[in-house]
Amino acid sequence: MKVEEKKRIFSGMQPSGMITLGNYLGALKNWTNLQDDYDCLYCIVDMHAITVRQDPVKLRKQARDLLTQYLAVGIDPEKNTIYYQSHVSQHAELGWILNCFTYMGELNRMTQFKDKAAKHADNINAGLYTYPVLMAADILLYQTDLVPVGEDQRQHLEITRDIAGRFNGIYGETFKIPEAYIGKVGARIMSLQEPTKKMSKSDENKNNTILLMDEPAVIMNKVKRAMTDSGSEIRHGEDKPGISNLLNIYCACTGKTIAEAEKEFDGAGYGAFKTAVGEAVVAELEPVQKRVKELEKNKDYLDEVIKNGADKSTEESWIPSCDSLIEKMEMDEVLCILSIFL
Ligand code: TYM
Repeated sequence: MKVEEKKRIFSGMQPSGMITLGNYLGALKNWTNLQDDYDCLYCIVDMHAITVRQDPVKLRKQARDLLTQYLAVGIDPEKNTIYYQSHVSQHAELGWILNCFTYMGELNRMTQFKDKAAKHADNINAGLYTYPVLMAADILLYQTDLVPVGEDQRQHLEITRDIAGRFNGIYGETFKIPEAYIGKVGARIMSLQEPTKKMSKSDENKNNTILLMDEPAVIMNKVKRAMTDSGSEIRHGEDKPGISNLLNIYCACTGKTIAEAEKEFDGAGYGAFKTAVGEAVVAELEPVQKRVKELEKNKDYLDEVIKNGADKSTEESWIPSCDSLIEKMEMDEVLCILSIFL
């Protein structure tokens, strides 16, 4: 009997700070649900993180923490490939090649670049600008079918598909065109105090975010202080961004639908509703936090996972080597330049 090859998933997270409930509900939780049915690569995208200034010691620690958290949520290193982006040089190599197939007009439209440039006005570097191209390289390097991400990455997925399609159009079928996988609930968790803005790990106001590692009492407190809307109805709607966000969080944690949750809290006050939301978040995160603490004690195991992941992801068969791409392009000069790295 012919064994069907599993489809491939690639996704990644920046080790640019402590991860939030948004990262968990929008991405990590889906990754664990998909790991049995797909061949998955889950990357710690440390090279993306240096598009803003980083303290090297802190960055290394954050990358290690992120690895521990990937494992703690249940991503199994036996079934999946977990690795640091900087350990696999093909990401940067393909990134350069794809830079030559990306138009400035396309990059100018990227809303995340505009937001980050506004936030880091003293450091609007070229890496920040071409960030989506490195992201395209991450994905296209592995002939990825599906990319599970939160809603904020949709535009980056679209540009990835455009770059791949353009390359294929010029040189023949080379890259698989990937699809985004964006969950129905949890894909866009908003800031607690400013619910029209997404929850972000780089937010300076700590009351805006729930961190994966926040203690239960801290979580309860942050949810209780979350901004609510006028009126007392617990209903999902554009006119109720605060309550809608809390309903999304509640449903993503409990698996209930919005309609079920609205029914459950029909007639309840904001206070009781917020207590239930806080408790649902605590119930979801507490087991993960316990596993993080256990894993942190096992340094050798973490070292082994990251070493094996780098070896596995570098295996030739997973990667259309940059060499063969250049051959396809018949650009001897470029090959000559790249042979320094290959
Ligand atoms: P990053 O590190 O900002 O976020 C990691 C994942 O978390 C999701 N996410 C959210 N989901 C719901 N609500 C939120 N408030 C929220 N905040 C973040 C993100 O959508 C993402 O899925 N560019 C990517 C990292 C990356 C990548 C890749 C992802 C680099 N290369 C290749 C997929 C494939 C990023 O900055 O994610």
